[in-house]
Amino acid sequence: MSDVRRPVTGDPVDAALADVVAQLPGTRVIDVGGGSGTRAVPLACLGCLVTVVDSSVNALAILHRRAQDAGVAHLVTGVQADADQLGTVVPPAQADLVLCHHLLEEVDDPAAVVTALATVLRPGGTASVLVTGRLGAVLRNILAGRYAAARSVLTDPDGRLGSSDPLRRRFEPSTVADLLTHAGLQVEAVVGVGVVAGLVAGGVRQSSVGTDLELADLEELAAADRTLRDLAPELHVLARRPAARGWAAPGGLVE
Ligand SMILES: C[S@@+](CC[C@H](N)C(=O)[O-])C[C@H]1O[C@@H](n2cnc3c(N)ncnc32)[C@H](O)[C@@H]1O
Repeated sequence: MSDVRRPVTGDPVDAALADVVAQLPGTRVIDVGGGSGTRAVPLACLGCLVTVVDSSVNALAILHRRAQDAGVAHLVTGVQADADQLGTVVPPAQADLVLCHHLLEEVDDPAAVVTALATVLRPGGTASVLVTGRLGAVLRNILAGRYAAARSVLTDPDGRLGSSDPLRRRFEPSTVADLLTHAGLQVEAVVGVGVVAGLVAGGVRQSSVGTDLELADLEELAAADRTLRDLAPELHVLARRPAARGWAAPGGLVE
């Protein structure tokens, strides 16, 4: 799993996904590396038809149970496959929304995965990509007094802590946006997730005089601020596959 500490309030990812699916009842969603369904099942509860493609049999078994418990098993399908085989296990150009959350940190070839997800999106469809931020990890290590770790994440070409780091890479906004752009997608938004919560130590947060509402309000402002968002533990990118005419599919095919 990633080293991300999820924010306690103001998660812009849930809000962004809810906005996308609200515009389209019965949204067809593919969740690549969707794991045990922490996003897939809530989306099915909103009426989406969700296919989770994941390499882990265990994660898919938990997904199945989670979907059953939520009463949405009929809306959720699990497929065991590697992410770069996505195009062979789901039909091309049909998904309204493709999620790729905390997968690009782990795969052999992030560009191949992003290319695959672009080809299964329908023209006009949306990709939601969530990755672990490099600069957020640098700052959190500095604040914790782990200077050698901060130096490693800052200077390693992939933003790694060393060979024992469970993540193969961390991202900056420009690196993840470039991956999507090269796959033929138009980046529409890049926001930081949990900027404030990621920086404030738990004890400070608990004894804080600020209210949860104030924190949520600050998170919302920080998420979209171009300097502060870069320091977030997680970066969320929304990108759209352009409408059919003139779309240059990865590999040069024009549809
Ligand atoms: C860190 S978890 C993220 C789960 C979920 N997307 C989330 O954000 O909570 C990564 C998931 O990707 C899956 N995974 C890792 N490498 C994969 C690959 N090459 N192809 C497909 N799934 C993969 C793992 O089994 C795991 O379920």
